[in-house]
Amino acid sequence: MSLNTFGHLFRVTTWGESHGPALGATVDGCPPGIAVSEDDLQVWLDRRKPGQNRYTTQRREPDAVQILSGVFEGRSTGTPIQLTIQNADQRSKDYGDIADKFRPGHADITYWQKYGHRDYRGGGRSSARETAARVAAGGVARAALAALVPGLTITGYMVQMGPHRIDRARFDWDEIGRNPFWTPDAQAAEDWAATLDALRKDGNSVGAMIEVTARGVPAGLGAPVYGKLDTDLAAAMMSINAVKGVEIGEGMAAAALTGTDNADEIAMGPDGPVYASNHAGGILGGISTGQDVVVRFAVKPTSSILTPRRTITRTGGETEIVTKGRHDPCVGIRAVPVAEAMAACVILDHLLLDRGQTGGQRGRIG
Ligand SMILES: Cc1cc2nc3c(=O)[nH]c(=O)nc-3n(C[C@H](O)[C@H](O)[C@H](O)COP(=O)(O)O)c2cc1C
Repeated sequence: MSLNTFGHLFRVTTWGESHGPALGATVDGCPPGIAVSEDDLQVWLDRRKPGQNRYTTQRREPDAVQILSGVFEGRSTGTPIQLTIQNADQRSKDYGDIADKFRPGHADITYWQKYGHRDYRGGGRSSARETAARVAAGGVARAALAALVPGLTITGYMVQMGPHRIDRARFDWDEIGRNPFWTPDAQAAEDWAATLDALRKDGNSVGAMIEVTARGVPAGLGAPVYGKLDTDLAAAMMSINAVKGVEIGEGMAAAALTGTDNADEIAMGPDGPVYASNHAGGILGGISTGQDVVVRFAVKPTSSILTPRRTITRTGGETEIVTKGRHDPCVGIRAVPVAEAMAACVILDHLLLDRGQTGGQRGRIG
């Protein structure tokens, strides 16, 4: 596998397996002089950490991040930043069964078909433990964005669990950090708790929809034709485990609209253009408009469920498999901080690309 790196100028390479001694990220291209510490990164890792409530896997991982290089006297030096997280609570015996059986919905079968040799413990490299490394790298991106674009915020939240959507009329930004589902709708959080408790007791799981909004993104990030901001955002989200669909702004719902509904009309405000709506999700022609950048994605229900499922063995025998190990009943919850991290990396990457090409020069309006 040689494709463990993403980004153009802000480049993140992740490494490690679920049950190996450690995993981490190498972040290359962080601008020098950015104030960043292990404590700064830990804040973001703690949001993704397992075992924080009964709605996430009970694997106990401190997810303590160590910075091994690229930061000196509290500031980035411009050289590669090596981030390491030790694995502490592996229970590999739970996975002995899957050495020879392929778990439905998991990457066991495709990794075997492709490589013919795999670390099956906890799913190895295909496990979402890898996303801890992304969150650590996203913390570096956030530190750089805070220094370069003060006021830019990136917030992820769950907008749907199973068939149950939030009510946008109850959307409250302050509510997001107050409930275990990272949802802006307090009523939905209550309803989802009951639904997920029932599913969890049944050993079942459910899918979800997550939205990420980046506010304060300057106009002009992204490039034609193969360097579109939306292309890179979609790829970043699609690379997260269990993601099966990604959309920007109106997304798939745009297909049902008419041109009159969908056109985001433009007026001139005191500080530049003002848009009457944001069906475009803050991106036109691959370039940010200065409006909120909105990306949304669907995750499938957790594949590891307690109901026996039919499968095959490595030698082709038909068999059944029952999940052991500890699992997230709705992976959407812990996908929220991961998605924020990916958005931070992509937006910083495009900020650096834009500085490189245009030096921040802009077409004047007014
Ligand atoms: C944060 C996060 C946590 C996850 N936890 C689990 C889990 O506990 N059990 C599980 O079966 N899948 C879990 N997944 C999903 C699997 O990693 C994923 O479905 C599997 O590797 C196959 O990849 P694919 O679904 O992207 O095709 C999680 C995904 C994310 C984003």
